[in-house]
Amino acid sequence: MALTIICVGAVYIDTILSVLRYPSEDEKLRATGYSRRRGGNCANTLEVLSQLTVQNSAMEKGGQVTLYLLCVLPSKQSTDVQFIGRSIPKVKFDGCIFRESFENAASSYIIQAATNNSRTIVSQNPLPEMTTREFIDSASTIRKQSEGGSSWFHFEGRIPTVTEESVRWLCEEFPSTKVSVECEKPGRTYMADVARHADVVFFSRIWAEATSHRDPRDFLQSQLPRMKPGAILVCTWGSEGATCAQSKADEEKGEKWASVKTWKPATGSVEVVDTIGARDTFIAGFLYALNCHEVWPLQQKLEFANELAGRKVLQTGFGGLS
Ligand code: FRU
Repeated sequence: MALTIICVGAVYIDTILSVLRYPSEDEKLRATGYSRRRGGNCANTLEVLSQLTVQNSAMEKGGQVTLYLLCVLPSKQSTDVQFIGRSIPKVKFDGCIFRESFENAASSYIIQAATNNSRTIVSQNPLPEMTTREFIDSASTIRKQSEGGSSWFHFEGRIPTVTEESVRWLCEEFPSTKVSVECEKPGRTYMADVARHADVVFFSRIWAEATSHRDPRDFLQSQLPRMKPGAILVCTWGSEGATCAQSKADEEKGEKWASVKTWKPATGSVEVVDTIGARDTFIAGFLYALNCHEVWPLQQKLEFANELAGRKVLQTGFGGLS
């Protein structure tokens, strides 16, 4: 059966300055590198997914995977939209909301410091955020185009009410649709409520730590009782790997657990060069494993995503990851 994966979030244009060490306030520091590329959690995830799914075309489903971006963008004719479109040519933009009176996309200015592999991000977004009505219209357009197949909506999660209403609408209108959400930024506490409706939840380390947990397993254990039966919860733990739990689908089937240490290549360089979007890459790997390798045990799915993210940080950008 054909599958459609829709990523709902924002797209940024990233300006990245590489420096040897993070500067102190008011200092003047010369960058060792400069680049400008398309970013944004959902777009990064889609860039990686488009490589994986084109190569392997939903093997077990025997169908094709179609990828959609659902986000707010500036005018269709703007150079920013052309730039974004060229960066993910295999992704469909039919579900995007174009704000015709705006020329610029959201942008991030990122200081990437070599000493401790930090990436400090300052971003700004001139575009008015998506409304629930706009989400419903866009999601309906995509559903019409993908009629007959199954669909998976992944939410980065931005505006609280909009995300919550959108997820609730999906669950009511299309109960067979699968939903995954990110609980990344601790400030977005409302995502904890949205997560209760999701089939898969991706938690970040800073999210877990903000709830006073120092260990991913303890954190996930505390979350399991609140989630849907059979929901999969993943917690990435930066350079220390990731842990995953699946809540009991019914009384007979118990919880499942999986965990991995950070992936390292058996031979060759282990020099970390670019951590921007490592989590987005991990999410792409996990969504791919869930949808295209359903028979893999949870541990194998987690290992696949972990290796993909591990390979990503050893290179610049998202190219050539499949
Ligand atoms: C990385 C990233 C960048 C973007 C920023 C937005 O995960 O998506 O590409 O600028 O985060 O928060």
